[in-house]
Amino acid sequence: MCGIVGYVGQRSAAPLLMEGLRNLEYRGYDSAGLALLHQGRIAVCRRVGRLVRLEEALAETPLEGHVGVGHTRWATHGEPSEINAHPHLDSEGRIAVVHNGIIENFSELRAELQAKGHRFVSETDTEVVPRLIEEERRRGAPTLIVALIRALARLRGAFALGIVCADEPDALYAVREGSPLIIGLGENETFIASDVPAVLRHARRVIYLRDGEMAVIRADRIEIRRLDGTVVQPEIREIDLQPEAAERAGFETFMLKEIHEQPRVIRGLVRDHVDAEGRPKLDDLGLSSDYFQILRRVMIVSCGTAYHAALYGKVLLENVTGLAVETDLGSEFRYRGPRIERDTLVIAVSQSGETADTLASVRLARRKRCKVLSICNVRGSTLARESDAVFFTNCGPEIGVASTKAYTAQLTAFVLLAAHIGLIREELDPTRVTELIAGLRAVPDAIHYVLDRKDSIRAIAYKHHDGPSSLYLGRKFNYPTALEGALKNKEISYQHAEGYAAGEMKHGPIALINEYMPVICICTRTLDEVYEKMISNIREVEARHGRIIVVANDGDERVRALAEDTIFVPEVMDELSPIVNIVALQLLAYYAAQARGTDIDKPRNLAKSVTVE
Ligand code: G6P
Repeated sequence: MCGIVGYVGQRSAAPLLMEGLRNLEYRGYDSAGLALLHQGRIAVCRRVGRLVRLEEALAETPLEGHVGVGHTRWATHGEPSEINAHPHLDSEGRIAVVHNGIIENFSELRAELQAKGHRFVSETDTEVVPRLIEEERRRGAPTLIVALIRALARLRGAFALGIVCADEPDALYAVREGSPLIIGLGENETFIASDVPAVLRHARRVIYLRDGEMAVIRADRIEIRRLDGTVVQPEIREIDLQPEAAERAGFETFMLKEIHEQPRVIRGLVRDHVDAEGRPKLDDLGLSSDYFQILRRVMIVSCGTAYHAALYGKVLLENVTGLAVETDLGSEFRYRGPRIERDTLVIAVSQSGETADTLASVRLARRKRCKVLSICNVRGSTLARESDAVFFTNCGPEIGVASTKAYTAQLTAFVLLAAHIGLIREELDPTRVTELIAGLRAVPDAIHYVLDRKDSIRAIAYKHHDGPSSLYLGRKFNYPTALEGALKNKEISYQHAEGYAAGEMKHGPIALINEYMPVICICTRTLDEVYEKMISNIREVEARHGRIIVVANDGDERVRALAEDTIFVPEVMDELSPIVNIVALQLLAYYAAQARGTDIDKPRNLAKSVTVE
């Protein structure tokens, strides 16, 4: 969603702001703009579309100045247009504001301001912010900070703001209330940004603003206050990421790079969370063994790809811990009046740790006095801070909008967690745990093998990419794989794709199958009857002349004989097969998107981190 950057220092701000915006492109946007302070005035440049349009405009009419803000907008209120692009100004052009989030009461504020004579130029909720600050100044607020505090007290909703004012040519203001914002501390210069990758090249120390905090930033000092004006002491943290972590490292896209990072990410998780005896090591998780023993129920909440990880977590946890496990989408859970009590552990899964519906669900769970364990990738994120315990997936920044390495890391986290809880609850005997962990150790090599096969996967994708629709089928552990494979395909190739539990196919999707319909069947070997059932489902597709693509284990000629095309993957333990199988489907979607010529890292209309409902 929208990206905010800001700069105060000695250098020319425009190129640094543009660099920051480029590093936030992954969040998704449809217009962009900058505002710089120069010679007592504010100059603004905004364009619809990709950042290159803004770059071209700046090349024609450069903006000067050492203090400024920049923004990439993902339209919520009002279409993507130059007028609706940020920054937004007050009526005299003395205050410029960039905003991420939603001002929920903007219509009433807008009506009130219109009654006072304000003429709004955009359709956005954001424009009320500079107008409110202007109004407070008119009404006699002695300083900008006082005007700002009074204006902020009128806003409802979730937001992060970056603000500059022509009357304070050396200052940048930053506000956080529900949407993430960080301050990056460089050498004699300071940045603000929605996310760390925007500042990685120039700042190695950051302050994570907390909800209800604002910062007044000057080149030589930073003051942080609560929104009521009281001063707070900032906590400065070192960033342990290298700038290269947010670069493509020779790959044509971030997504392809991230797909290739998966073996390393999983190896890292095993290294950090398995002890010398081959048992899970999660003692630092923050939840005691006693707690896991008395636990009765688990509820997993998440959105998007993380929801598919939750579905996998449910099957696995139920299989190995004996606990009753439910899953829900964040956007449903928060409104359905869930019956959860203290004996329920709520597990929130989120790459970013900033997804609005997931956070709201966690807050609801905490109000009901449940413990919250999050599986999260971003240290310092809101989710990480608000959880009782966090399992960090440690993938490094995931920049491609379509999630890949974060997903397989979430699955891996569930394996380690399930083994840990299963052992404590004595549902899993130690030999079985060491087998599971040994199986997990074999997964990175199995993924390498799939990656090595990418040319043949590309050929299959190129052959089938041009139909209007495709169907993905799987069962048990690989039912979530089918959903996630279909999601990857539609997200980046824009081909309609539907994921289904294979046994449910007869209840609807079978009506769609004809000789043009690619049906991707995940049929890796399992030790129970699911494999035979999957073969029956494939036969049902065959009988209707569907174009069968199977994901099968090496050497499985029986399944191969049923298919038009086969993607072979190495055999790993049943429970772990989704971690390997999804990599084949990520590549299939990737090359379908390549064949269809889409913008793979920044698919249309999607945002990396959905910080509004
Ligand atoms: C967006 C992203 C998805 C992601 C989902 C949940 O829709 O495009 O890739 O799975 O949000 O995000 P989270 O950060 O909570 O995992």
